[in-house]
Amino acid sequence: MKALVTGGAGFIGSHLIRFWLREDPDISVVNLDKLTYAGDLARLLEIKNHPRYQFVKGDVCNRSDVEKALVGCSAVIHLAAETHVDRSLLDAKAFFDTNLYGTYILLETARKKGIKKFLTVSTDEVYGSREKGFFKETDALDPSSPYSVSKTAADLLTLSYARTHGLHAMVTRGSNTFGPYQYPEKVIPLFVARALSDEPLPLYGDGRQVRNWLFAEDHCRGILRAFDKGKSGQAYNISSATSLENSDLTRQILKILGKPESLIQKVKDRPGHDRRYAIDSAKLRKLGWKEKCPFDESLRETVLWYRENEDWWRRIKEKNPDFKDYYAKAYAARV
Ligand SMILES: NC(=O)c1ccc[n+]([C@@H]2O[C@H](COP(=O)([O-])OP(=O)(O)OC[C@H]3O[C@@H](n4cnc5c(N)ncnc54)[C@H](O)[C@@H]3O)[C@@H](O)[C@H]2O)c1
Repeated sequence: MKALVTGGAGFIGSHLIRFWLREDPDISVVNLDKLTYAGDLARLLEIKNHPRYQFVKGDVCNRSDVEKALVGCSAVIHLAAETHVDRSLLDAKAFFDTNLYGTYILLETARKKGIKKFLTVSTDEVYGSREKGFFKETDALDPSSPYSVSKTAADLLTLSYARTHGLHAMVTRGSNTFGPYQYPEKVIPLFVARALSDEPLPLYGDGRQVRNWLFAEDHCRGILRAFDKGKSGQAYNISSATSLENSDLTRQILKILGKPESLIQKVKDRPGHDRRYAIDSAKLRKLGWKEKCPFDESLRETVLWYRENEDWWRRIKEKNPDFKDYYAKAYAARV
């Protein structure tokens, strides 16, 4: 089977493509990616010349780019998105362009081309926050940020194509994902980079927000399990057994690096910051998925990877001249 993966030059997409090609000898992958500030082909260097891999530079919002990439494909796994909540607070336009309109263009083109299976990678953020208990797939969606609203729209639009057009369409709703090659604005690589330079780690509010942490490889395994065994029109939560307060995560990172907790600097909370994300992944577990990567080991592996691969994230920061300004702006908005 030949499948289109969108956003394959991003963090999770690149893990997914490498993992899929390694695990399934019958799969060929076309990677459609616009290479925004978050896309980086260096994540895929080891498979650049793989005989079952092809890269197409293009925009999911552009119908002819999508048509070109879909030639010969019978399935789509859609990850391309604007993904950083903080950026969506400063300017949300690109979020609605790519996450909503881009998903519409993909679904519409896939339907017309007779694509057999379509999976959109969504997020646990679509449910919003809850103090106790766990969200199931049938619970109401109640997103808080422009990012999560744009993802909710894409998620529901995907499911609507199953109902109204009979497209075999599904969504996965994964929790906070971590691992090597994550863009250095996200919390784990950001905090590792700052700790390595003995710079303060800006922790939002009281640091007691709870997140569930899923290792990238386990997330990919979950996406592919839903893709293989999931039913059309259904959503599948993907979460691990490890939920942590942000302050505990920060302390663990500092401990792995042998850096003092005095580097933690509490800053004003993010507006609309969800307190606790918590989802129940029993539905996907019934299809045979379970996480394989223990959290402590995976976090250690990840933190040390950033320490050993400084060239990668330093190059990314330098490539984006607004990186410093962007952080200056974002932190100024917080303090
Ligand atoms: N990172 C997480 O913790 C997490 C958790 C759950 C779900 N998700 C979802 O998983 C997906 C991937 O997340 P990520 O963290 O790997 O994102 P990322 O920001 O690292 O990568 C996004 C990729 O999409 C590409 N892209 C953006 N706009 C595009 C467009 N218009 N056309 C084509 N390509 C475009 C970028 O170039 C980049 O390669 C997203 O849909 C995200 O919402 C992420």
